[in-house]
Amino acid sequence: MSGFVFNEKPIQIERGDGAYVYGDDGTEFLDMGASYACVPLGHGHPAVQDAVTEQFEKITYVQASYPNAERTALYDLLADTAPDPIDKTWLCNSGTEANEAALKFARSATGNSKIVATMQGFHGRTMGALATTWKDKYKKPYEPLIGDVEFVPYDDAEALDEAVDENTAAFIVEPVQGEGGINPASAGYLEAAREITEETGTALVFDEVQTGMGRTGALWDSQRADVTPDMITSAKGLGNGFPVGATLCRDWIAENYGSHASTFSGGPVISAAAGATVSTIVEESVPEHAADMGEYLQTELEAAIGDEVRDIRGEGLMIGVEVGRGANKALKQLALNHGILALPAGRTVVRLLPPLTIDEEHADAVVDAMAEVVG
Ligand SMILES: Cc1ncc(COP(=O)(O)O)c(C=O)c1O
Repeated sequence: MSGFVFNEKPIQIERGDGAYVYGDDGTEFLDMGASYACVPLGHGHPAVQDAVTEQFEKITYVQASYPNAERTALYDLLADTAPDPIDKTWLCNSGTEANEAALKFARSATGNSKIVATMQGFHGRTMGALATTWKDKYKKPYEPLIGDVEFVPYDDAEALDEAVDENTAAFIVEPVQGEGGINPASAGYLEAAREITEETGTALVFDEVQTGMGRTGALWDSQRADVTPDMITSAKGLGNGFPVGATLCRDWIAENYGSHASTFSGGPVISAAAGATVSTIVEESVPEHAADMGEYLQTELEAAIGDEVRDIRGEGLMIGVEVGRGANKALKQLALNHGILALPAGRTVVRLLPPLTIDEEHADAVVDAMAEVVG
């Protein structure tokens, strides 16, 4: 048999339209995982399709050392929409690369090597990002990874204060942990992280690969939390399905980034896709809609299954339902009996990361299905 890495699921997806995907036999599924948060605007959004098609007709690829209008427009758009004073962008192709760059930039800009990361955190699978990822199951077969990484409990400002010092290059943290089980930081934690890192000259990196692009109710979760880090990393939803990642930086980082580079950094097609995605999200007030729909979905889930499950938590349309050890069984039933594709977060949490464009009808379908599955 051909192929390699993935444990593939028994559903072959061939087509997508908005919040729905379709199997090779035409079966319809409501995509409540948005293909791992990669299509915030839903499948096949015309603004993104048109921008990409138009760019294809001009030129498919031009290397980043030559200016290109689509890339420049994306740099400007990200500078305009990122929290001030973050206004420099390095482009790549994935979340792990965006974090890899952030770790390298932090080491280069501070002259230090130590990285502090959080327990249960997830930052990607290349050697540097993997070293800052918590779970052994992702790391063990590939060790030794890069050294000088210390893990602290998530959401614990005291532990962070003890771990970060003048020799620390970076503290990397998800403002809402995704893979770790949908764990939002409590009020005050990110502010404390900002204070601690500022005092020690440490780069504060918010990994917004999952939280960004409006998912938690603001374009960037750092804007919702009102804390501006030194770097924000992005990928997943940034190109509405096209592979693009970004490391957004303050000047002191960008001016001392070292010599990092990548051949495929910011090609015109992915720049067109990302530009169309970000401008549509902003122009159509998608984050505000995600905040409203997230509140509706969480409230309805709480009313329907609050007594049956251990916890329902999240921000905006990044929601975790802690069902206990049966999460995988629940996901299978949702897919095969109810035509709903959701995601796991660890072994105990059913994770909902739908397209941010869903309406109450979609939310009600999920609530009804969850009530049958866990009830
Ligand atoms: C918070 C976070 N960071 C980084 C990554 C890695 O992104 P990618 O799979 O695009 O390398 C992920 C992927 O799930 C993620 O959730």
